[in-house]
Amino acid sequence: MNDFTFVLPTKVIFGAGAIKNIVDICKSRHLGKIFIVTGRTSTKNSPHFQDILALLENSGLPVRVFSEVEADPSVETVDQGTAQLMAFQADAVLAFGGGSPMDAAKSMSMVSANGGSIQDYLRGRRSIVKRGVPLICIPTTAGTGSEVTAAAVTTDKQSKEKIGISHEFMMPLLAIVDPLLHVSMPPAVTAATGIDALTHAMEAFVAVKANPVTDSLAIQAIKLIGSNLRAAYAQGDDLTARSNMALASLIAGAAFTNAGLGAVHGIAHPIGARFGISHGVANGIVLPYVMEYYWQDGNAKFRDIAAALGEDVQGRADREAGWKAIAAINKLKQDIAIPDTLAAVNIAGEALEDIVKDAATYRLLSNSPRRLTVEDLRIIVGRAFGNC
Ligand SMILES: [Fe+2]
Repeated sequence: MNDFTFVLPTKVIFGAGAIKNIVDICKSRHLGKIFIVTGRTSTKNSPHFQDILALLENSGLPVRVFSEVEADPSVETVDQGTAQLMAFQADAVLAFGGGSPMDAAKSMSMVSANGGSIQDYLRGRRSIVKRGVPLICIPTTAGTGSEVTAAAVTTDKQSKEKIGISHEFMMPLLAIVDPLLHVSMPPAVTAATGIDALTHAMEAFVAVKANPVTDSLAIQAIKLIGSNLRAAYAQGDDLTARSNMALASLIAGAAFTNAGLGAVHGIAHPIGARFGISHGVANGIVLPYVMEYYWQDGNAKFRDIAAALGEDVQGRADREAGWKAIAAINKLKQDIAIPDTLAAVNIAGEALEDIVKDAATYRLLSNSPRRLTVEDLRIIVGRAFGNC
């Protein structure tokens, strides 16, 4: 076995109704002034958000709400929030919502301690040398895993790029995962975020940097998603399915923040940044094409993935068994209405070279189990357009 490092400093508080303890959780950590970061509309207006706000305000804890985070948070939004966070002199940042508010809050916390603009870190002009303001994450979707990861993605609207940064000092202090917050998630959001979690788990499982701990987490996440995503999609108030998906998202996050991601995210980022396709849908479209490319290389781990997704692999050779993993992804996608191709989301074929050019610069491309050249990316993206 190779030597490895695994880090997970975030305290996880998991359970239906867990958010009811928010005041005690903050007070036990001596967190007085809370800067809350959330989305512009749906999350801010949700009854659960109002409950948390009322609990904090009624307890006498000073609170300020920043509810300007859009889907795929921009440099401008992160910088604006950072300025407000610093002016408020908060003891803690509380992120409520999906990946966008959590990533934005993570960046604000980090920049407030390290100075400058988030753009300085995206472009490598500044280094992260200090931990940010303590961060509490309350996810309202089951996909990003941002509540336990070191990563945050920011969109540069001028250059049309989505750029991720990752640093141990950005990992949240606390994650409060309450599956009751997920039951009202619409089916399309359930599908997109769920396939994002599957992508995290699969990319981490086959990653160059995978280790025995990340493998254990990733394969369990794949199993949970394979047996619960359809139910969460079809029957939103199925609390068992919601709990299992919340857990899957969390442990897939813990896996990928240590093992890293790969070409699926590398190709999905330009699709999201250039064409406004949601992160989960972009990943979901690309996932089987990238995985098929890895499988063609004779990757033995695909046998385990197929079995985790419920396929019968007994008595079959590795290659045939592994192929069932690709078939299982496509079946799952069909059942939760994730589009098959980039053409199906109205992206014209002429965009292929732009997507390939951007994907080739992805910082984690070399973490893919098969070495990918620009020509390889061209083949994969071409297949994702429906070209055989
Ligand atoms: Fe993702």
